[in-house]
Amino acid sequence: MDKYNYGMIGLGVMGRNLLYNIADNGFSIAGFDLDAEKVKELQDGATSEMKVKGTATLEDFVSALEAPRKIILMVPAGKPVDAVLENITPLLSKGDIVIDAGNSYFKDTNRRVADLASKNLHFMGMGVSGGEKGARTGPSIMPGGDLEAFNLLQPMLEAISAKVDSEACTAYMGKGSAGNYVKMVHNGIEYAIMQLISEAYDLLKRGAKLNNDQLYQVFKEWNNGEMNSFLIEITRDIFQQKDDLTDGYLVDQILDKAGAKGTGKWTSEQAMEIGVSIPTIDIAVTSRILSAYKEERVQASQLYAKNEITSPENTELFIKEVGDALYLATLISYAQGLALLVKASEEYQFEIPLKDVVKIWRGGCIIRSVLLEKFYVAYTKDSNLSNILLDQDISVIVKHKINSLRKTAAFAALNGVSSLGIQTALVYFDAYTTESLPVNLIQAQRDYFGAHTYQRTDREGIFHTLWQTATH
Ligand code: 6PG
Repeated sequence: MDKYNYGMIGLGVMGRNLLYNIADNGFSIAGFDLDAEKVKELQDGATSEMKVKGTATLEDFVSALEAPRKIILMVPAGKPVDAVLENITPLLSKGDIVIDAGNSYFKDTNRRVADLASKNLHFMGMGVSGGEKGARTGPSIMPGGDLEAFNLLQPMLEAISAKVDSEACTAYMGKGSAGNYVKMVHNGIEYAIMQLISEAYDLLKRGAKLNNDQLYQVFKEWNNGEMNSFLIEITRDIFQQKDDLTDGYLVDQILDKAGAKGTGKWTSEQAMEIGVSIPTIDIAVTSRILSAYKEERVQASQLYAKNEITSPENTELFIKEVGDALYLATLISYAQGLALLVKASEEYQFEIPLKDVVKIWRGGCIIRSVLLEKFYVAYTKDSNLSNILLDQDISVIVKHKINSLRKTAAFAALNGVSSLGIQTALVYFDAYTTESLPVNLIQAQRDYFGAHTYQRTDREGIFHTLWQTATH
């Protein structure tokens, strides 16, 4: 009996689509799911050209695979991954590779790498982005971990991933759990950009009084230019979607409570843990949390009724400024996420190649955008860039757009339009680009009440002062 090149555990839509993508590229692959119905669906949906086999038991699944076995897990993060590992590891042999393609927490991956290594097995964390469609037609794939195991997978990953200028949107992301870490930060940036787009929408809708057809036109224009990206593209389409249940557009019927599965929160927690400032990502996480308090917000909106929004004097100019503000705030969000990757790479010895990260994010993934092309150029010039805002060419773009960000933020603030992401992108930029921050005073206060000491600007050393209490 012919053995299969790959195995997939978890045949939900993502797993099945990724499996078909692998099969489309000429690799044979066996699938397993605890749900027999899903195994049947897999078999039924496969074309006659695909070398695909659905297996009824884990034992059948494992024995169908060639050595070393290469098994991809596409199961929900957390306990389900541990449950699968517990069941499957006794059936595996030395050198077999298990690849977790879900949104697993990187610290869980570290634990699993060590656990499987003690059994002479390889375990790799691999981020996959692009949603259901991406999985089927070409996602962005972020593998990390054991290099030897990665080398065995590389040809398949390159074949199934999205392509930009015929370059594959997959690359080795670094040691240990770097693959999961990069995907986590990808999602943090995703949260920030989605938040910013929603604010731009609100400003155009309630500020410039644009209807859904006009919003569609604006986003279409944006997507045809320098803001071309997946998230702008799908937003454009959302404004055209009619509602099945009423006469209007669907977007107007959707309740304003945002869900979240946790990767954004992990990104913020991580940034706090290792000391990186990523306020636009943080605010995007907290904004979803705040959105859930719908009933309280309704109550507060009645208590603090707002004045009517003043219409902008020149609607066309306003739309242009909001677009530029969105572009720059998006750039600043990427800057924050990438800065987190730089620090994490040092902190956890991941050795993340930033240039490859932005390269493989150019296609397939949710945060793909033409802007990443500019980051790719920047990291090609200097792979050690600690913050993308420090690149000369990027600074030219920033200087060109900053006034629009200020004006848009000011408009929102003066009119009481919630703009958490836009404001934090701007204030982060202002803080990051300020030579002398007023934290000298914070240091003085800390030393005053807690003898926490301070450093001086004019000489080396650590100082403490017995602060005088003013008499009047
Ligand atoms: C991707 C997405 C994917 C998923 C998010 C949604 O890259 O394909 O990021 O991983 O859609 O996890 O996250 P929330 O449910 O937290 O918004």
